[in-house]
Amino acid sequence: MRVEPAVALVGHIVVPGDKSISHRAVLIGALGEGEVRVHGFGRAGDTQSTVDGVRALGVEVEDVADDELVVHGVGLRGLHAGSVDCGNSGTLMRLLAGAVAGQNGEFALTGDESLSARPMERIAAPLRQMGATVETTDGHAPLVIRGSGALRGVEFEPEAASAQVKSAILLAGLNAGGPTTVVERIPTRDHTELMLEAAGARIRRSTSSVTLEPAAALRLDAVVVPGDFSSAAPLLVAAALVPGSDLTFHDLGVNPRRTGLLAVLERMGARVSVFDRRRVGGEPVASVQVQPGELVATEIGAAEVPALVDELPLVALLASHARGETRVSGARELRVKETDRIEAVTDGLRPLGARIHSLDDGWTVTGVPARLRGGRIDARGDHRIAMLGAVAGLASREGVAIEGADTAAISFPGFYELLESVTRR
Ligand code: S3P
Repeated sequence: MRVEPAVALVGHIVVPGDKSISHRAVLIGALGEGEVRVHGFGRAGDTQSTVDGVRALGVEVEDVADDELVVHGVGLRGLHAGSVDCGNSGTLMRLLAGAVAGQNGEFALTGDESLSARPMERIAAPLRQMGATVETTDGHAPLVIRGSGALRGVEFEPEAASAQVKSAILLAGLNAGGPTTVVERIPTRDHTELMLEAAGARIRRSTSSVTLEPAAALRLDAVVVPGDFSSAAPLLVAAALVPGSDLTFHDLGVNPRRTGLLAVLERMGARVSVFDRRRVGGEPVASVQVQPGELVATEIGAAEVPALVDELPLVALLASHARGETRVSGARELRVKETDRIEAVTDGLRPLGARIHSLDDGWTVTGVPARLRGGRIDARGDHRIAMLGAVAGLASREGVAIEGADTAAISFPGFYELLESVTRR
């Protein structure tokens, strides 16, 4: 696929439902009592793996529409033993591992080549401490989990700032004999906590920890999933980069633990306005308008990383168009995403004309306020890198050819069509 340069991105758009919240609606719905109707479900490769995954464990899920489904909960200990193919989804593998740790029976979790290369000891260790038997394959998938009906509550501080690890422990904690605490020095996305609270779980939160009391039962009303901020991000960044753009997103999830990119865009000089703020089912939602500005370099460190972890490849592209040297550090986690995103971004943007260097935990980027030349980028099977290539193409002089562009459908089927619909050439 080739993406040609754009003159502007203009319009009003709604992006598909949030992937993180969609996964959680299906998983928490499966552990609940009765039916949960999920509106605005973000159907994509990853979330379909979650639907198929809970079906494989005996949960009935009705597909009402592409973006609507009904999950028939089986209760906190009602999942059947079985095998689940988690596909490309780290969120599914890690959260499901937590959900099955307190169930009876043996569960096998497998994934594709990329997922099988990602670290799983980070969830295996706390789940073992809670009393489950977790076998990994040299620290990776395939995983075999023998659940325990007698899990213990623990206090655990994950080494990496990871919402997936936190969520795995909390979901296991639902079936533990006492309270479970996750300590996090840098806060990560809190969709699990918000949805468990909405389902009636007792949760205490401080700035640096979350404590969950074991639950007797979960009852979730209908879930309305807001637009996925991470799916909006490539379009937000394209609008900030291409002069003359004016793009507005409606019904967009703006949970502050996800929207670090907005703060970065503003301090780099783009014009951002957030309006019509409200809450939908516990999650903050708003409209967001973005217009370009003269971009300047910035600095991003560990404290800011979780709030924009999936958007950092896009920040590297912004930085190549921003006057001065941008430094991103404290982001070593990028090395264990769907691919090593530190190297994928450096190897991807440099041939397009960017002056970018990898650090162990980020990049330095020297930017100038001018278009990159363009060229070819390899998505390396990573949806976020494919979408990065598309934005780079719009903002380039000669366009960008994306190898493996189809992988965008892992999180955002219809991405290229939506992008074209707002692009003027
Ligand atoms: C996610 C958490 C993040 C993020 C991923 C989705 C989630 O991973 O990168 O795309 O839904 O909890 P980590 O929490 O492992 O950093």
